[in-house]
Amino acid sequence: MKKTTLTLAGSLIALSASVSASYADKLTFYCSAQEEWCQVMARGFEDATGIDVNMTRKSSGETFAQIRAEAVNPKGDVWWGGTGDPHLQAAEEGLTEEYLSPMRDQLHDWAISQAESAGNRTIGIYSGALGYGYNTDLLAANNLPEPSCWKDLLKPEYKQHVQMANPNSSGTAYTTLASIIQIFGEDEGFEFMKGLHANINQYTKSGSAPIKAAGRGESTIGIVFMHDAVAQAVAGFPIKVVAPCEGTGYEIGSMSIVKGARNMDEAKQFYDWALSVDAQNLALEVNAFQVPSNKGAKTSDKAPDMASIKLIDYDFVKYGSSDERKRLLQKWDEDVSVLPQ
Ligand code: G6P
Repeated sequence: MKKTTLTLAGSLIALSASVSASYADKLTFYCSAQEEWCQVMARGFEDATGIDVNMTRKSSGETFAQIRAEAVNPKGDVWWGGTGDPHLQAAEEGLTEEYLSPMRDQLHDWAISQAESAGNRTIGIYSGALGYGYNTDLLAANNLPEPSCWKDLLKPEYKQHVQMANPNSSGTAYTTLASIIQIFGEDEGFEFMKGLHANINQYTKSGSAPIKAAGRGESTIGIVFMHDAVAQAVAGFPIKVVAPCEGTGYEIGSMSIVKGARNMDEAKQFYDWALSVDAQNLALEVNAFQVPSNKGAKTSDKAPDMASIKLIDYDFVKYGSSDERKRLLQKWDEDVSVLPQ
């Protein structure tokens, strides 16, 4: 009898341990980088820790909106990837958690300054310059001139040949809008966006979709981060990458922990791991050509050379602020997106 009781008690302890393990050892991971990289990060973390990862890929603006909508009952634990501006906005709105990772001293200054400007509610994980790419076969077939500047994209002969994402959903496209305003000033910048609108064949949801369409020969020019255009060229598509002559903006791809995350310990474990050399080197397996934030991680020799690109002094604090991002998106919605094409 005694033996049975003990066995039963032991089984109950074992059962409760396994139940709590299955509740505790998991992570809901919101990812806003490219799908293949998101997959490899999810599997890499599972392999490194045994923690089950449930990953969803959505664009930067969409993930921001989701985290805001879920704020009273958070479902996501960690948000990794995507442009820094919506991460900064989330920090300002108190949607993300302050965290000082022990990995910080391994990171470049630009990654830390992103964190410091947001009360340590976000941090830089990669960077990359904005630009565009075009399909050289389609350009030649349509007898179009080779573009090399932002302003070239306004030429009437490019009508229906240019694709970019919608800046509401996509961080890439918001970076485009904010960069154009910083290069040309707000009034001229919005005139530029209106002129560009006349040549746009489609506003996609995801930032890198326009250059994938150009790679497949469905559209000629895609406004994207240069590393996304390089990825298409490396995959064998006839894509030429352009660093626009006027200069260009760039992103600090970022990571944040969701405020009130259900799996807070796992979120912090992921955060520390994602800043490590090993995790950041996974980028090389999936042709992600961003510059990593860990000083010891490798940058592919195919990555765009940031030192040779004319970069503007992108004002992340201003363009990542909640008021400014909302104001510019509303102005784009009302003054640009509704114009006839
Ligand atoms: C691509 C780029 C990333 C960027 C992301 C933003 O995946 O490679 O560097 O952060 O787009 O995605 P989104 O869909 O928000 O423009």
